[in-house]
Amino acid sequence: MRVNQAQAIALLKAGDVVAIPTETVYGLAADARNASAIAKIFATKQRPAHNPLIVHIADIAAVSDWASEFPPLARALAERFWPGPLTLVLPARQDVLMALRADAPTVALRVPAHPLALAILKESGLGFAAPSANLYTQLSPTTATHVEASLGAEIPVLDGGPCAVGIESTIVSVQGDAWQLLRPGMIDLAQLTHITGKPPVVLPAAETPKAPGQHLLHYSPRTPCQLMHSREAVLEAIHSCTENVCLLFGDPIPDTSRSICLPRQASLAAEQLYAALHALDQLGAKRILIEYPPIGCAWEGVRDRLCRAAYQTAND
Ligand code: TXA
Ligand code: MG
Repeated sequence: MRVNQAQAIALLKAGDVVAIPTETVYGLAADARNASAIAKIFATKQRPAHNPLIVHIADIAAVSDWASEFPPLARALAERFWPGPLTLVLPARQDVLMALRADAPTVALRVPAHPLALAILKESGLGFAAPSANLYTQLSPTTATHVEASLGAEIPVLDGGPCAVGIESTIVSVQGDAWQLLRPGMIDLAQLTHITGKPPVVLPAAETPKAPGQHLLHYSPRTPCQLMHSREAVLEAIHSCTENVCLLFGDPIPDTSRSICLPRQASLAAEQLYAALHALDQLGAKRILIEYPPIGCAWEGVRDRLCRAAYQTAND
């Protein structure tokens, strides 16, 4: 069910969920101070309770409503990248709902850059929790139609057009003067390090406080996906089995009914990535064969999502 901005605000104020556009992906939003609204997010997404939500806020000044500390390093990142696709994990104020942060002592905050999301935040005066507006483990939505395909036609959606960034925000945790990258995104390691002036802390895997819910089965199309290291191998597998479809980077191939080609420019590839995977998933193919994306720091977010999409297949 499509709603307009005023209806979206009314729903949020009434403690209901509404899917709203952000510059990264569509989010399933609800009032972050309302426990029953938060419960509706988890129920609608069928999301396990141990996976905490990001709180979307209107501006840097609102950080102090949610975080008990705002270290200078975190402030520097916020000043450079907000509004934008960066989420900061900071020590939480005690009054932040436990269900929202899954009992963690921290809270994840982001100022989104989409004009409709910002307008709703400013007009409603609310902070809203918003995970990606898809069923748990499914592909994230980058259009209103994707949201309806995953959550059903009854879900209220504010249509803000296709998302410009296209993959979920970069998540950085800041503790004092140390920082860690919890989820790669389109704000990459080089850009972050340029602001922080020092590399992230890398702890041994066993000690790393993971963003809960970052397990490898996320972001999967229903069709099994397989990453392949060379374009030639993908093309050979496409020719030898007509039930395969493929995702390539760079020059298109003649068989456009079974292939989608993404630009070899990371920001454009990210923008189109989920729409391409949604479209390939619709074809009912045996497998989606994926050319390994180009190397380089700017591609880390796209690479991360594709590795996750292919993980189940690599391990079944
Ligand atoms: O771009 C985005 O971040 C989108 C849009 C809608 O803003 N949202 C999004 O939300 O991707 P979601 O719920 O799909 O992913 C949020 C991630 C999860 O992996 C969660 O574990 C992590 O953020 N997270 C949330 N709170 C956290 C916390 N206190 N500590 C560590 N990780 C946290
Ligand atoms: Mg998600």
